[in-house]
Amino acid sequence: MSKNHFSRLRPELAAMSAYQVPDASGLVKLDAMENPYQWSAEINALWLQYLSHATLNRYPDPDPEGLKHQLQACFGPQHEDIALLLGNGSDELIQLLVLAIAKPGAAVLTVTPSFSMYQLVAEMLGVDCHCVPLDDQFELDQAAMLAAIEEHDPALIFLAYPNNPTANLWSRKDLEQILTASQGLVVIDEAYGPFASASMVNQIHEYPNMLLLRTASKLGLAGLRFGWLAAAHELIAELNKIRLPYNINCLTQMTMQFALQNYPVFAQQAEKICQSRELLARGLSALATLTVFPSQANFLLIRLQSHSAEHVYTQLLAQKVLIKNVSKQTGLANCLRVTVGTDEENQALLKALEHALSS
Ligand SMILES: Cc1ncc(COP(=O)(O)O)c(C=O)c1O
Repeated sequence: MSKNHFSRLRPELAAMSAYQVPDASGLVKLDAMENPYQWSAEINALWLQYLSHATLNRYPDPDPEGLKHQLQACFGPQHEDIALLLGNGSDELIQLLVLAIAKPGAAVLTVTPSFSMYQLVAEMLGVDCHCVPLDDQFELDQAAMLAAIEEHDPALIFLAYPNNPTANLWSRKDLEQILTASQGLVVIDEAYGPFASASMVNQIHEYPNMLLLRTASKLGLAGLRFGWLAAAHELIAELNKIRLPYNINCLTQMTMQFALQNYPVFAQQAEKICQSRELLARGLSALATLTVFPSQANFLLIRLQSHSAEHVYTQLLAQKVLIKNVSKQTGLANCLRVTVGTDEENQALLKALEHALSS
């Protein structure tokens, strides 16, 4: 492309960077909150058999009602006023939501630190994004949140529940107050719902401006790219107008149908991950020179007391363990985020960390 062509691109692009994903080949991969378990050979064989009926020459079902019913049966809500919108990963739905409100003067509100995609998507689409810092316990600063709602009148609020990367659930009362105070849409992103002790799923019919976002990624299907949004029928019908037709390919639809028929497998894996999380938290706490924050998700946030996060991150990488260095995010000085892996992976992490902290 010549310079002349570049000048036709939106000028903001020059200052933006593409989303960076580190190469994890050959590494113990504990950076992206994936479920470390695969299906058994038996389930895998049944899945491949199921997929052999795919009609790849045809466009996929544009509106797979059967799959939506399965999702509602497994995850709720089964309230008749609530409908679902399906996305190619929940990232696509975050983008669709910002697209839906992107008009001059519209604003997005979220908190910091939180999932970076909310802000990135707003930036991509030229929408102002205001981030209210969490307090030093990673709780919502409710006075600041309500003041920001008053000041910016956000068209869209994103709240991850549990939050990434702090792993905590916020007060239900605060969330309800935000839902009531906001004139705009409020997205409760329950990506880590399978590992949490609470959910807002049963509140959805009480708040016409609430949308519940969920993903199959953390459950064990990150490679599939599938997420869904639940909200009042009328709201979903409006959002559906800007969904690209056939956004969920037929292999994804069939795999999700198959996966939900085998839902107990995922439920057991999530339970195992929660048990491993507690063991890993204990192992990490025993290392003494770090703080482990309580977690309601499939990852742990730790703060190093006497070593720099950058140093420990690099030392772990040298020992072939990949985690996430979040220490540059607001309020997360010297913090690292580790995904809960298999028992062997968690042991490898503890061993590598012990070594890193002694160097
Ligand atoms: C809070 C939160 N929401 C959504 C996502 C993205 O999920 P998906 O894989 O469905 O795009 C993530 C991924 O890390 C996340 O942390």
